[in-house]
Amino acid sequence: MENGIDKSRIPKHVAVIMDGNGRWAKQKGKSRIFGHRNGVKAVRDTIETAAEMGVKFVTLYAFSTENWSRPKDEVSGLMELLVFTINKEIKTLMENEIALQAIGDLKSLPKVCYRELMKAIEKTSKNKRMTLVLALSYSSKWEIMNAVKSLAKEIENKKINPDDITEEIFEQHLCTSSIPDPELLIRTSGEHRISNFLLWQIAYSELYFTEKLWPDFRKEDFKLAIADYQKRERRFGKTSEQLSNVMQ
Ligand code: FPP
Repeated sequence: MENGIDKSRIPKHVAVIMDGNGRWAKQKGKSRIFGHRNGVKAVRDTIETAAEMGVKFVTLYAFSTENWSRPKDEVSGLMELLVFTINKEIKTLMENEIALQAIGDLKSLPKVCYRELMKAIEKTSKNKRMTLVLALSYSSKWEIMNAVKSLAKEIENKKINPDDITEEIFEQHLCTSSIPDPELLIRTSGEHRISNFLLWQIAYSELYFTEKLWPDFRKEDFKLAIADYQKRERRFGKTSEQLSNVMQ
């Protein structure tokens, strides 16, 4: 035990809905993009703390399919920030053995953004300590529809029989096929919503909500979320008694 955290029960995958950048900026009388820029510090703190604790996957909801309908200058500002941050942080990712991956409709990203992202993914692909997954132009309904279409094509081509489709086979058609489901989902800014994020994958995840706006989210806040997660009993539909029998 260290700072109330049991090192033997660290979640393998933590997903984060980084929310509140706009409100944070508004409180300071600044533009929304100022809020996003200040959100990068929270991204760094989260990744650093997760890696130090031994978390294996961190998924960040950086840009949703719905975010394309935000004001044009906010969208282009976010895309620029993304390219800038990836280029700036690649050295740190390499030094800390962190691999980058991305999920979402990546082809819909601006060309330069897509190119830089692919370069960084390729460059970091052999890193083994932790994987940082960026959800970009991502929405869960889009992902599930894609999986359905891809399975339908396999049926059409007689590669699979509809009756043979299992949860495992369906999962192979999601963007997250190589990533375990998150045990913990964190959302900042006091909103209690999932916002079209990893709907299939969070079936049994613990949900943690904090009032902190994303740019204010620090290492201590991440540790609080992990400590809170460890206090919960994950039953997966079973009773407490059944679980304690298995433990004995
Ligand atoms: C939500 O706040 C935040 C986003 C849509 C973008 C998050 C992006 C970053 C923190 C930039 C860098 C990220 C990486 C991974 C390099 P909001 O704008 O919805 O806030 P509001 O609800 O207060 O308006």
